[in-house]
Amino acid sequence: MQPGSFPADGQIAWPGICYWGCSALARAVQAAGARLQRPLVVTDAGVWSALGPRVVSEFAAFEWTLHDGVVSNPSLVQVRQALHVARQHGCRSIVALGGGSVMDVAKVMLACLASGLEPERLLTPEGQTWLAAPSSGDDPLFIAVPTTSGTGSESSSAALIQGDDGRKHLFRSTRTRPGMVALQPDLTLGLPRAPTAHGGFDAVLHALGAWVNQDRSPVGKAMALHALRLCMKALPEVLRAPQSLQARADMQMGAYMAGVAIGLSKVDAVHAMCTPLESRVHMAHAEVLGPIFSVVSRYTVDTVPEPYAEAARALGVPTTGRERDDALALIEAVEALAMQAQIALRFESLRLTPGDASQLAAQAQQSASLPLHPRALAMDEIKSLYLQMAV
Ligand SMILES: [Fe+2]
Repeated sequence: MQPGSFPADGQIAWPGICYWGCSALARAVQAAGARLQRPLVVTDAGVWSALGPRVVSEFAAFEWTLHDGVVSNPSLVQVRQALHVARQHGCRSIVALGGGSVMDVAKVMLACLASGLEPERLLTPEGQTWLAAPSSGDDPLFIAVPTTSGTGSESSSAALIQGDDGRKHLFRSTRTRPGMVALQPDLTLGLPRAPTAHGGFDAVLHALGAWVNQDRSPVGKAMALHALRLCMKALPEVLRAPQSLQARADMQMGAYMAGVAIGLSKVDAVHAMCTPLESRVHMAHAEVLGPIFSVVSRYTVDTVPEPYAEAARALGVPTTGRERDDALALIEAVEALAMQAQIALRFESLRLTPGDASQLAAQAQQSASLPLHPRALAMDEIKSLYLQMAV
């Protein structure tokens, strides 16, 4: 983005207070003080068995309740379960310990707890009005303690939850964004290679999407570019040295900053087209993103290479000064990261009829990020891009 090209009017909603470092959780809990009222600790069984003994001492000073029933790719069923426990125990604050699924369940549950609405009602105009309203001082305190680095859910205003109709729904609200975040890198040291790699690649594409899109928030753009720089450097390092606390800390901060960037600027067609496809294929988020990125970004730079080329130059990718070549150099650098992360750039068995592709394209068009994509994509173009990904 050229200096001075941001809109004359605008606003930002800063995410909450972020603590980082090896005592981050203790410092967050101490700062929260009495606002951490009867917290519900939301997590999943695997995370709790691995990390529960490490963090439990932080909650010794007050009454708290555990809910470790979150599963990956959560649905409204998991939200209802957590909400039931919270209401049963009179919980008035939330500590979410886990990855994106835990954060997303906690966000939607917080909306229900604060609004008194049932989860399905959040999809109605009444629920959307509550989600769009500014935070009231009475909203429960929410501390996010991420144990993965990737989704940026700890800092973003979005939660992706499967509805009762089987489709993934995006709940976007700045009032359900965590008011406090504890980035404690040692809690990610035990993360296995696949989620480490997938999360890192997801964070790269959050940062890149927020950078190349047409949103003009100067703060979002600055955050996106620095997040991209940090994530592209940290991902190979964390794959090479998973026990390196520095590499884990860099990856965690990069993913957090990418989450802040998408909270301010949203993403692009890569993520917009990913969400509908994820409802059809049983693959990890990053595995769906890889082929979509390759097809969509290469199509985009045919006519709009500038933001990709600018990122290549800012990040020190070898460039030529020719816009399209430099844009392709950046795409190739991201594709090389995907290969290092063992994420394929082609679907091996995706079969789509033209009717399937039309349906996916119609769903992708509902994303708020699609119209922000640097190259305007008409319905037929989105459909054609989906068909190019199929075998
Ligand atoms: Fe993502």
